[in-house]
Amino acid sequence: MATAYNKAYLRRSEYLAWASPHCAKGRATSGKQDVRRKTAPTGSEEPTSVPAKRRLKIQEEQMMTNNKSQNQLDITEDMKNKWQNIITIMAKILNVPAGLIMRIVDSDITVFLSSKTENNPYTPGAKEHFEDSGLYCETVIKTNKMLLVSNALSDEHWKNNPDVKLNMISYLGFPITLPDKTPFGTICVLDNKENKYSDLYKDLIASFRDTIARDIELLYSNHSLHENNSKLNTLLAEKETILKEVHHRIKNNIASIEGLLSMQSQSISNFEAVSALQDALGRVSSMRILYDKLLITEEYEDISVKNYLESLIDAVAVLFPYKLKITIDKQISDFNLSSKKVTPLGIILNELLTNIMKYAFKGRESGLINISLSSIKNLATLTIQDNGNGISEGFDISESKGFGLMLVKMLSEQLGGTFTIENYHGTRSILKFEI
Ligand SMILES: Nc1ncnc2c1ncn2[C@@H]1O[C@H](COP(=O)(O)OP(=O)(O)OP(=O)(O)O)[C@@H](O)[C@H]1O
Ligand SMILES: [Mg+2]
Repeated sequence: MATAYNKAYLRRSEYLAWASPHCAKGRATSGKQDVRRKTAPTGSEEPTSVPAKRRLKIQEEQMMTNNKSQNQLDITEDMKNKWQNIITIMAKILNVPAGLIMRIVDSDITVFLSSKTENNPYTPGAKEHFEDSGLYCETVIKTNKMLLVSNALSDEHWKNNPDVKLNMISYLGFPITLPDKTPFGTICVLDNKENKYSDLYKDLIASFRDTIARDIELLYSNHSLHENNSKLNTLLAEKETILKEVHHRIKNNIASIEGLLSMQSQSISNFEAVSALQDALGRVSSMRILYDKLLITEEYEDISVKNYLESLIDAVAVLFPYKLKITIDKQISDFNLSSKKVTPLGIILNELLTNIMKYAFKGRESGLINISLSSIKNLATLTIQDNGNGISEGFDISESKGFGLMLVKMLSEQLGGTFTIENYHGTRSILKFEI
């Protein structure tokens, strides 16, 4: 192994001083990379005093502008193995003791990978402060150009560089840059004798460098995608929380209005006034039930129609505690509907049921109401039938003075459906719409 070999290759004092990297005079470290991930602050790290809306805005801005801090990519094991093979083959072809991939990590330059070749003094993980290290690689990275030093000993500029102390007197290296043009590090070979490195060898290392740069580019874009994805998920979760908060508030407000209407209806004796307040209470209740359902199911998109309509019918029925006996027969199929469609459907049902309670059984002792909702091939049909007095023959909604049926007609159109009301063994209303 490289470490064991290094110890044999260098005298102990040299080893401690220069242990391993051609770029390093520091200690040898484990193969683990000192790559500290710098992630953007998440929403939860924002001060809680920042309003939710502003928090979302901040996160969105961060997502757009906060590019991955340079060179913090995790290189996958597969890629590392591939690169390891590349530099080992490279060193063997050129018949040199060392082939390396160096990497900038924070303010250091590290031996990222070192060829598995004989007499290679460099250990992966060893690092050196980058600035003014006097290393061959520092020059390659700063100039962003190939560097060839055939014999450092005969070159005034290079004869005292740190690698000479490891007997690495010749060097050929190429810069590796990240997609954003910042440096990743270098790919290089070092020799313990003079070496002029032919053009063919230069081309070979340059093409290995291109392969590595393409791998990094791939990682880089995968990483950006992944980061953006998780930020989007965080945003989505926050938005859902806010939506829930809004629903809670609406529900609470509706409940307050119900309370007020109920108190008011108890404090007056005029029958018509009480009846008007009860109508209003019924309409408000149907809205509250919708919000109840929304919050219980935690679904803002699809809601169980059966669950929702059955609760709504019960809520309207208890608002009319008549002496006469009214039986309500419910046959509601269970299917899901978007909240966009459930809302008008609930209001329609509320209006029709309220009308029945008010008008159908006047002067009678009992009454029967059949409510059915079925769906066949995307077509939903709501039928409400009472066995009461019946609506007047030839009744025309557009000529009616009341508001309820007008509202029903408008909401049916909003659903893209059709609505009919007729005198049929009492009154029968039919609403058809596409799910
Ligand atoms: N199931 C029913 N049985 C008998 N008559 C009905 C029935 N439904 C509606 N009507 C009649 O149709 C009329 C119009 O109803 P609509 O709901 O449009 O108005 P309203 O109930 O009078 O007033 P509002 O709904 O604005 O409180 C009612 O006044 C009533 O005479
Ligand atoms: Mg009405």
